[in-house]
Amino acid sequence: MLKYGLINQLVNLEKKDFMMKEKQQYWILETKQCAYAFGINNAGILENVYWGKRLESQLDYPDLPESEGWASFNGPTQVLQEEYPVYGGMCFHEPCLKITFKDGVRDVVLKFESEKSSNNGLIITLEDIHYPLKVNLHYQTYSEYDMIERWVEVENLGKETINLERVFSALWHFPGGGDYFLSHLTGRWNNEFNLVREPLTPGVKVLESRRLTSSHHHNPWFLIDDGNCSEDNGNVWFGALSWSGNWKLTAEVSNFYTTRIGIGINDWDFIWQLKEGEVFSSPHAICGFSDKGYGEASRLFHNFIRDELIPHKNQIHKVLYNSWEATFFDVNEPSQSRLAEIAAKMGVELFVVDDGWFHNRNNDNAGLGDWWPDSEKFPNGLTPLIKKVNSLGMEFGLWLEPEMVNPDSDLYRKHPDWILHYPTRVPTLARNQMILNMARSDVQDYIFTKIDKLLSENNITFIKWDMNRNVSEPGWNTAPGDQREIWVRYVKGLYKVWGDLRTKHPEVIWQSCSGGGGRADLGILNYADQIWVSDNTYAIDRLRIQYGFSQIFPAITMESWVTDADRGMLPLEFRFHVSMCGSLGIGGNLLLWDEAEILEASHWISAYKNHRQVIQFGNQYRLSKEMMQYMSKDAEKGVLFVFNTGNNDTQSHNTINLRGMNPEVKYKIEGIQEILTGADWMKRELSFPLEINKSLFLEISKSK
Ligand code: DGJ
Repeated sequence: MLKYGLINQLVNLEKKDFMMKEKQQYWILETKQCAYAFGINNAGILENVYWGKRLESQLDYPDLPESEGWASFNGPTQVLQEEYPVYGGMCFHEPCLKITFKDGVRDVVLKFESEKSSNNGLIITLEDIHYPLKVNLHYQTYSEYDMIERWVEVENLGKETINLERVFSALWHFPGGGDYFLSHLTGRWNNEFNLVREPLTPGVKVLESRRLTSSHHHNPWFLIDDGNCSEDNGNVWFGALSWSGNWKLTAEVSNFYTTRIGIGINDWDFIWQLKEGEVFSSPHAICGFSDKGYGEASRLFHNFIRDELIPHKNQIHKVLYNSWEATFFDVNEPSQSRLAEIAAKMGVELFVVDDGWFHNRNNDNAGLGDWWPDSEKFPNGLTPLIKKVNSLGMEFGLWLEPEMVNPDSDLYRKHPDWILHYPTRVPTLARNQMILNMARSDVQDYIFTKIDKLLSENNITFIKWDMNRNVSEPGWNTAPGDQREIWVRYVKGLYKVWGDLRTKHPEVIWQSCSGGGGRADLGILNYADQIWVSDNTYAIDRLRIQYGFSQIFPAITMESWVTDADRGMLPLEFRFHVSMCGSLGIGGNLLLWDEAEILEASHWISAYKNHRQVIQFGNQYRLSKEMMQYMSKDAEKGVLFVFNTGNNDTQSHNTINLRGMNPEVKYKIEGIQEILTGADWMKRELSFPLEINKSLFLEISKSK
């Protein structure tokens, strides 16, 4: 339940406390376990005073410190925890807002104007003391997940255009100064989501994307801990930006040894011309706090994403087959039919034809943009193959890369001006392709029409939306305003097309892919139900990548295929177990698999189906980098995955305590004789000695 309001409106306050706070405007946002408080200090500055565990009484939240500068070198906002610092006055730290007014003034002075509250929302309105500029700070609580969503709206109340040069969605302060550790995810194509944890020291640490997508390289997510933290215990503060384009995170330890993190659209090469009466809305940022360590922080995100974000909230994800690594561009009706027959035999439920099916697409030199079936490969269109797939009892899915165009395509020949480009520069090709300008309404219309036609004329229930290059020459010489608005307008265009398609075809499940995990963020999960995590399908690498991915994203969103990348190197069982930790898929060339492999694959697909409710919708516990436990929400059943990826000490390897069980309930663990209560299992050190490259998949069940 959210509680907020002016403290001086609350009743039953002791006189002393009342006197202390009566002149202050003070808001407390409370969720189930956590709280966030800020108010207006004696100098009129909106100041944050608390973010942490929910306190017993509202009177326990701290008072607002006095507003003072420090020597003549630091203004008050250097020393105070300003809620939404702007560039103005003596501001030397990273601000949230940077503006240039028409007369060249680059100084913003905001004063509190009003507040508006609803059931679980709060809007604080600030206005510039001289210029017609309004800033609305939005807060929305999600009590159940201990999450608070924040975003801002900047409004031009005047006639003259205002140039926005930075608009962050939120900034957070951490209690008691420095000595914090920042966890974040880093990587590159084929090696995404590596978890890094590092101490923050005085200065600014920047994480960002300038690549047009959220990127493989860093993820718009952070987690802060105070050094006394584990998977199960300790204070963690965390947040993420719901945005699929350029973003920036600044983690700053000030010279006064205070720590703050700001996040928002990247201000690099950014400008937004805010014209008369216009409002600029920032992407939403989500933040949360837990005193139960990294594991709980992830589970809060998982629940939030599953319950509040993804479009098909309670829908089980089907076991899919994807033909990419089997046939690459050699896609045609017979090749796909043969694969489909075997996939169906194994128990696959959804057959997805990847790249290579459309007009003139025989390699990556041609075809992107021409989204109709290639007449040589599919002389009668996709219908015969779809009918065949359906008759085998499977649904049909298709790969698309809508934002892209090859120079060798009908689309580019007709509309060379539709790409991002500068007329005076030769467009840089990457994978022989260029990026369509998604900000243009004619481009949006074209993409919508082509995909709508495919979905309307064919029984397609799944689309993998890919994007296989990063940006270059981000020009738009016919832009309605400043060309640098492209970074934001592109993402808005992408969301618009995807959103319109979702509205028209609500039953379709979408997968977000950008050469693997190049566009994995909370923003895209408003449109896509799952993410293709990496093009790296080696099971051992995948375990590490999946470990990082699980920091934010729930297993249901994590598409993971068993392929031939490590066929002959790792047991099929191991490769299946790794993929079963998420949303299971198969991506190998089934024509090469022998009878024994097909039989074993059927066995694991069936085992996965029996337990996927728990894996996709349950609570995930990272017992170690090589051990994952999933428990159903009611803690009645679970599964345990154990891997040995290279530890010679097979005896002492993989010793852990189980988690997430009901202490009073008795459980049986597959392969172990004893039946114990959850309390006893969670106390007991369990050891799973395994040889290198071996794995286990064990059922945890309630016993009478
Ligand atoms: C990159 C994706 O990550 C792959 O799975 C595959 O779809 C290729 N693109 C196809 O070009």
